[in-house]
Amino acid sequence: MQTPWIAPSILSADFARLGEEVDAVLKAGAQVIHFDVMDNHYVPNLTIGPPICEALRKYGVEAPIDVHLMVRPVDRIVPDFAAAGATFISFHPEATEHVDRTIELIREHGCKPGLVFNPATPLDYLDYTLEKLDMVLLMSVNPGFGGQKFIPSALRKLAEVRKRIDAIDRPVRLEIDGGVKVDNIQAIARAGADTFVAGSAIFGSKDYAKTIREMHVQIEAAKGPAK
Ligand code: DX5
Ligand code: ZN
Repeated sequence: MQTPWIAPSILSADFARLGEEVDAVLKAGAQVIHFDVMDNHYVPNLTIGPPICEALRKYGVEAPIDVHLMVRPVDRIVPDFAAAGATFISFHPEATEHVDRTIELIREHGCKPGLVFNPATPLDYLDYTLEKLDMVLLMSVNPGFGGQKFIPSALRKLAEVRKRIDAIDRPVRLEIDGGVKVDNIQAIARAGADTFVAGSAIFGSKDYAKTIREMHVQIEAAKGPAK
């Protein structure tokens, strides 16, 4: 298990002040910035692309940027995100023709590949890919919007992926995305996640540092007995 990371999703940030918002969550204790890319095609919403990622790098953001691609096709946009300063690039296997080729493409461009599983997507895609990944991202909502409710079956799925990751000899982050809050993050950590995306829970709170601190306290508590 790797050190826990809180990954604020900038989908819920104030886009008119994006640089300041990113600085604020990093100063507040976040380890990585979650960057949601939606294309109004693979998902019914439209967000941000490589120029915004590049703008954050030019603004001075040095933290890892965790790009979550909710786009189809995937391969066309990978080199652009690599050039724009992405650290991780995760994609949905249903959205690409050749999953292995897309993983290789991300790696060739110097980024860390991740595979994303929708709530109803079985884990079979991991059978021949896990050894090549730096991240497995489990969706605990259907992709497309912030502020949705956590789908409880994600806990069972997390536990399954945790077992698979622990069985291989390389570090792979296990990330959860959707409906993560202070009051459910302990159960999520207990199920095996080590990277926690939170959009509305952080950017919707008044005090980012307090929220992130409380999340870390709950993650730490997950190491002890369940209450
Ligand atoms: C949903 C996105 C999430 C979203 C999470 O498609 O992938 O990253 O921003 O938002 P919350 O934490 O509000 O559920
Ligand atoms: Zn996301």
